Amino acid sequence: MEEIEIIKPDDWHVHFRDNEILKAVVPETTRHFARSIVMPNLVPPILNAKQAIEYKKRIEKAIPTTDNFEPLMTIYLTEETNKKKLKQAFKDEAVFAVKLYPAGATTNSDSGVKDIQKVMPVLEMMTEIGMPLLIHGEVTDKEIDIFDREKVFIDDKLNFICKELPDLKITLEHITTTEATQYVKEGNKNLAASITPHHLALNRNALFVGGIRPHNYCLPILKREMHRKALVEAATSGNPKFFLGTDTAPHLTKDKESACGCAGVFNATYCLSILAQLFDNENSLNNLENFISRNGAKHYNLKTNNETVLMIKSNETSIFREFLHIGNQKIKIFKPDFPVFWTISK
Ligand code: DOR
Ligand code: ZN
Repeated sequence: MEEIEIIKPDDWHVHFRDNEILKAVVPETTRHFARSIVMPNLVPPILNAKQAIEYKKRIEKAIPTTDNFEPLMTIYLTEETNKKKLKQAFKDEAVFAVKLYPAGATTNSDSGVKDIQKVMPVLEMMTEIGMPLLIHGEVTDKEIDIFDREKVFIDDKLNFICKELPDLKITLEHITTTEATQYVKEGNKNLAASITPHHLALNRNALFVGGIRPHNYCLPILKREMHRKALVEAATSGNPKFFLGTDTAPHLTKDKESACGCAGVFNATYCLSILAQLFDNENSLNNLENFISRNGAKHYNLKTNNETVLMIKSNETSIFREFLHIGNQKIKIFKPDFPVFWTISK
């Protein structure tokens, strides 16, 4: 049996949703992680400090008393976001970061940003106060092929923001392409990227294995194998610009297995075991702690956690539960197509 002890990890990108789903999914994250950045794409979205504070309270109520966990709240950027109020919300520590969704890019993003120029004054203010900007990096034009939307966003939008505001702290979230890894590596020192377990584990073939596979549908959509390999290289390299953001995104199976299935992979339950296996398969376990416990904290100017977790490699493959049950509904739990031998103990 092999064991490694590492600093307790953080998940820099989660969707907790609300109500019954929130109650069911929060413990799946708080069991292993110390902190998470919580996405604001509820219906209606989290637009101001008051809503963020109330949402945080609902999350805190769902944290098991045995878990030590801090949710870091975000605000959903719109073309109407009030600069002064946002500054105050950050100063009061009610809100940790701002999320930019290009309008229509993904689940509940209709009130996102259509014209980046319109939010530049807010981004300038954020640069001054050191407030991080989290970006869903995809253009939404119907004419652009869905597999090219991240690359076009980088060329047409991100590059503009980075040139105009080189000191703005930016996270390009859930990156999926070689171009994104390259841009981030060579970009401003304040620019970093998060990577999800499912984009590290799967390529786009996973969408069509003997039929359509709605549970592997997420946004940005899975890409070719060469892109997956570039992500694995970036994540396992130890480069401080890359860190874990699981983008765990629960949807009920009935909403995924539908004529118009929702985008999102619910991966919170086993993500750390899966990542340990991925790093092990690449002979890079020495860089796992950087990716899941150090690099993100450094990017966000936070201390690394004091606690540690123990990861254990057994001789037998882990058996994963298939679903998280919520009343008479269920959510499919992400499982990769390779065997996983690692488990996490507290
Ligand atoms: O697959 C995704 N699901 N990508 C996103 O950007 C949003 C998320 C969700 O909220 O379901
Ligand atoms: Zn997300």
